Amino acid sequence: MARRIAFLNYKGGVGKTSLIVNIAACLAQQGARVLLCDLDTQSNASIWLLRLERWNRLVSGAGGTVFTLFQPNPPKLSDLIVRDVVEDREGKKILPGLDLLPTSFNLVDLEADYTGTPGKPAYVHFREELSVVEKDYDFILFDCPPNVLRASQCGVFSAAEIYVPANPDALSLIGFTLLVEKLASFHDAAAGFRRHALGPAAQIQGILFNAVKNNTDVEVPKMRMQLRLNQFKTAKRVARGAKIFSAQVRDATIVRRAVTLGLPVALVSTETAADSGGIVADYRAMTREIFQHTFSYQT
Ligand SMILES: Nc1ncnc2c1ncn2[C@@H]1O[C@H](COP(=O)(O)OP(=O)(O)O)[C@@H](O)[C@H]1O
Ligand SMILES: [Mg+2]
Repeated sequence: MARRIAFLNYKGGVGKTSLIVNIAACLAQQGARVLLCDLDTQSNASIWLLRLERWNRLVSGAGGTVFTLFQPNPPKLSDLIVRDVVEDREGKKILPGLDLLPTSFNLVDLEADYTGTPGKPAYVHFREELSVVEKDYDFILFDCPPNVLRASQCGVFSAAEIYVPANPDALSLIGFTLLVEKLASFHDAAAGFRRHALGPAAQIQGILFNAVKNNTDVEVPKMRMQLRLNQFKTAKRVARGAKIFSAQVRDATIVRRAVTLGLPVALVSTETAADSGGIVADYRAMTREIFQHTFSYQT
């Protein structure tokens, strides 16, 4: 069965998208079948992996994006998936196994305009659609916006595990605390729709530190985060085995360059990657640690 994982934090700009894109790429490079679902209306992951021209074409008609699932006469989710999404400049597929469920800016309309079927929230519809393709994947990853509103709820409700990207600073701690509260209210609201077959609601399994500068002291922010995590564990508000992951990703300019090139960092040519300073190894180590993490639940 596919492992279903959401990356979520109440703070923007911490690295949710860059971590999920690069971890998805590492998993695919190791031969896993991966579906990355972009649920952030900002469309950063979609534009990154499709590049602007292909994304524009998709948004302007050819194909469709996740928002169409919530419009009249919706397509099947499987028809929206862009298979083996990563291409070089000549259109050659260069990362088999990484599929994308793309999004567009109009996903924001889901928050205001969605009426759908009475008594059936958007996330229930999304979860049902996703079930059809689940067997085709080893990993289904959800990139979420920094909130638990409707689009994000689709990922949270569908996921079995949640990871919280964070920077070693005080704001990330606030974002994490807020997230735990908002998650609890969403899980309460959604409990009635959680059929047994879906398994328990997703709990926070770990904190992933990103963009760590090599001259900054991460020990103090880490310690504060660990204290907060311990409190939440005692209160049974995060998974029993939740931890700060020991793999962390360094700050490196190549991340921004990779976005511009429309490639995961690991696929940026070695020439360009000369100044990557080992960030690819960081992504691989983090991928391995997530892969090996046996997720647990509080009961
Ligand atoms: N390890 C890193 N080193 C340097 N810049 C990074 C790193 N990770 C992310 N960034 C940059 O920081 C910004 C925010 O990252 P992003 O992944 O989009 O965050 P989020 O999805 O949480 O909003 C982006 O411009 C991204 O290119
Ligand atoms: Mg993002």
